[in-house]
Amino acid sequence: MVSLTKSNALFEAASTLLPLGVTSNFRYWGPTETRYIDRGKGAHLWDIDGNRYIDYRLGFGPVILGHSDDRVDDAVCEAIRHGQSFALGTPLEEEVARKITAMCPGVDMLRFTTTGTEATMHAIRLARAYTRREKIIMFEGQFHGLHDYVMFTSAIGGDVHSSRYSPVAIPVSSGIPEAVRNMVIMLPFNDLEDLEDEVDQSWHDVAAIIVEPILGNCGGILPEPGWLELIRRLCDENGIVMIMDEVKTGFRIARGGAQEHFGVTADLVTYAKALGNGYPIAAFGGKRDIMEQIGQGVSHGGTYTGNRVGLAAANATLDILAKTDALEVVAERGRELQTAITEVLERIGVPFSVSGHPSMFSFWFSEEAPKEYRDWLVSNRALHDQVASHLIERGVMPDPDSREPWFLSAAHSLQDIADTASLLEDTLREVLRSHAFAPKYAYA
Ligand SMILES: Cc1ncc(COP(=O)(O)O)c(C=O)c1O
Repeated sequence: MVSLTKSNALFEAASTLLPLGVTSNFRYWGPTETRYIDRGKGAHLWDIDGNRYIDYRLGFGPVILGHSDDRVDDAVCEAIRHGQSFALGTPLEEEVARKITAMCPGVDMLRFTTTGTEATMHAIRLARAYTRREKIIMFEGQFHGLHDYVMFTSAIGGDVHSSRYSPVAIPVSSGIPEAVRNMVIMLPFNDLEDLEDEVDQSWHDVAAIIVEPILGNCGGILPEPGWLELIRRLCDENGIVMIMDEVKTGFRIARGGAQEHFGVTADLVTYAKALGNGYPIAAFGGKRDIMEQIGQGVSHGGTYTGNRVGLAAANATLDILAKTDALEVVAERGRELQTAITEVLERIGVPFSVSGHPSMFSFWFSEEAPKEYRDWLVSNRALHDQVASHLIERGVMPDPDSREPWFLSAAHSLQDIADTASLLEDTLREVLRSHAFAPKYAYA
């Protein structure tokens, strides 16, 4: 069991300077459980108290090769000796853009940003400018970053309910203007009929359908057969821009991301996370005629866009992904972990199902495989949360929030997987004995 003496003391000090003691609401796990990390290497993290964790969060997904990969770090160290910010371009931008366009189907042109949030924000603005329409369709359980256009969830759960046939979009933060909410049409993921009906009624107002091809912010739920193809067809038939948000799937589930994996090409795509193995780099790109709106009335820029640190990391990461079997290793480790978890859960005899791609998947305490966000709500989340928090205490770190998938990297070893399975078995037996499924971790 871990001791968190130093993290607890740092939390107290940091809370006087940083709201919740951290620089992202999602890093706050409550006053006694919030951890501060000293270092990461490969598949492992060490917190400032010296506790080691097998890491399945991987910084919410980016660390595809493992923490502190020497090949990527060396490329960054070499690049930064030549200066950082010039308010002018560098040759590295063209070099990395060429690699991305070669790897990713349908990406004729792109622009770099620093975060996935910026990438989705710019993609939506571009779609609005291109179509001269304002509304966007998004789906329950998705997350596209922390800008006002997309910070909505569905009114379901607790006391708040809306029908799955006409979900009510509610802001996930105070401070989001009502006018922005009126620009959002929220629909259930994977409901082909409902989407077709909605587009039939509203197409003339809709600039974009933005979709996470796999629900990477809700257990890695996979698209039903025909789902992405339907979005593609409806966009083609109605002059709507299809935006595939590949911030989690890009350079993870295949070299060409979900577009390659599912064989559906969007009009615009957003990338971040695995593009830079954890360094700050993101991009949005797609069809030439849409991208060429930039510079012809559509604005995009930023002091740190195309920053050398992120680009050098992306350059090295893309070379490794293109020239080695890293992604095959990630998927293989994921399959091995899925098998190991399945064996444990079957032995213990709890109802469960597994969802997602092997490189980003979840297990749910419900018999039915989930198809949409509403299935997550009715799964035994309390049991999942309890298991996750006990695992963290034993040195295995999935996210405490059951919506976040388990992420695999090329650095996870067979030993990590065997250790995880054995600790999961101990944990689950203990949690089931105690019948105490109250969530332990706080979410902000
Ligand atoms: C699908 C998706 N889009 C966008 C974002 C926002 O990316 P960032 O956190 O880099 O701003 C995230 C972050 O988790 C994401 O999962």
